[in-house]
Amino acid sequence: MLQKTLIVLKPDAVKRNIVGELISRFEKVGLHLQAMKMIQPTEEHLYDHYETIGQLASRRGEEILKINTDFMRSGPVIAMVREGVEAIEVVRKMVGSTEPKSALPGTIRGDYSHLSFGYTDKNNAWLTNLVHASATPEEAEKEVSLWFAQAEIYDHEMEAHQFKRGHKKSH
Ligand code: CDP
Ligand code: MG
Repeated sequence: MLQKTLIVLKPDAVKRNIVGELISRFEKVGLHLQAMKMIQPTEEHLYDHYETIGQLASRRGEEILKINTDFMRSGPVIAMVREGVEAIEVVRKMVGSTEPKSALPGTIRGDYSHLSFGYTDKNNAWLTNLVHASATPEEAEKEVSLWFAQAEIYDHEMEAHQFKRGHKKSH
């Protein structure tokens, strides 16, 4: 099933100047770019994103919600909408697990970071894990409309549609 998903390259990705490298990973697997912008999200926007939609405080505690909001306000981010077959699951697979220490090699978090929850808690450090990606279809739908107006999303055709079975050869 074709799905749209929200990807946000976090302030650490922008500051480390690896935005192009990370975007190219999503391009290589064929996920179709439908919207993209650089913004510095407000506290209210992040509350809607992480708590109203993502329920971070109930999942991980009030303190984590606050710490993570401060981290996400530490610089501009790049937000994207990409579309593809089962895109939500595919992008989560590419991003890897939340804790970089546990994220597998080959995933973005596993390849570009290594911090552990234990370390960031003990040292009062941000869990700089580079990318946000929608976790479920419900989350994706709400997040895409929180970050982008309908008019900013370009619903153009995926190339994969050109490879339908039974498609006639052109010569
Ligand atoms: O981002 P993901 O969906 O993998 O995880 P989450 O449980 O939705 O948490 C959202 C974000 O909160 C994480 O990506 C981290 O940036 C942050 N977080 C944190 O700073 N410290 C934790 N112990 C857990 C999450
Ligand atoms: Mg999440």
